[in-house]
Amino acid sequence: MGFAGRSIISLHDMTAGDLNRIIEATYDTKSGRESGFLRGKTIAVMFFEPSTRTRLSFESAIQRSGGTVIGFANPTSSSQSKGESFADTIRTVTGYCDAMVIRHPVEGSARLASDIATVPVVNAGDGANQHPTQTFLDLFTMWESFGRLDGLHIGMLGDLKYGRTVHSLATAMSMFGARMTFISPHTLQMPDMIKRELTEAGIGFREVRQPEEAGDDLDVLYVTRIQRERFGDPQEYESVAHSFRITSETVRSLGGRVLVMHPLPRVDEISEDVDLLPNAIYFRQAHNGIPTRQALLGLVTGGIS
Ligand code: CP
Repeated sequence: MGFAGRSIISLHDMTAGDLNRIIEATYDTKSGRESGFLRGKTIAVMFFEPSTRTRLSFESAIQRSGGTVIGFANPTSSSQSKGESFADTIRTVTGYCDAMVIRHPVEGSARLASDIATVPVVNAGDGANQHPTQTFLDLFTMWESFGRLDGLHIGMLGDLKYGRTVHSLATAMSMFGARMTFISPHTLQMPDMIKRELTEAGIGFREVRQPEEAGDDLDVLYVTRIQRERFGDPQEYESVAHSFRITSETVRSLGGRVLVMHPLPRVDEISEDVDLLPNAIYFRQAHNGIPTRQALLGLVTGGIS
């Protein structure tokens, strides 16, 4: 399936061919081979949940590609605060733009929006479900670093239960035959639905409690934050909040060549001494949000064919 006019909601709707096309278009955009492809396009960026990287990199991406941004960073500045429904907001905004980007705390919101909108909808994170554009920039960063995605061994650490970034990433990496090691407290394990999906795809994975148990052949340690905002019970959060602190010693114990990634924001799960290591690529990863989101919007609006 081509990209023009298509909504991007979940990795479950995508193929390895789609992901390779996004990586290729991101490379062309980052290298300057593609530019100006959003000229004359208006993109609505609507955030019903806080964000720094995703919102600002989308806005920067749109402007750098010649497009115009409308939208809001906070639902309190929209008419939702007067009682307007989400569906009516989408029915209205679809007439104001050529594509819309939505972050929302409720799982399934982006899918609902794509059922209503007459323009492509890009899911910028829906609750604990999916965060596809984070995965695209993660894949691009790995591809840039290793020259391939096939057969990498990736350790995913932290909140694997509520972490939408790792849910999307596990599905994506399964398409490239990755090996995965899931590192989390028992209560924050990767959901059974995703583990079943990996088993059915013939993808090997292990579950361990600490990074040192992952072995010394990890290519990537993908660290995530334990997300206070996803816990209904503050005591449950406190019981796992400080489960991990990755230090330069941890990186050495993993064989020293592992690349450390993180979707950010971090709280205290990676100590700042790791930032100084060549292994730490999380800020380059965040900066790759620009060409990745430029390329994706170019593809869905037909500016990149
Ligand atoms: N990685 C990510 O989604 O960060 P923000 O919440 O700051 O957008």
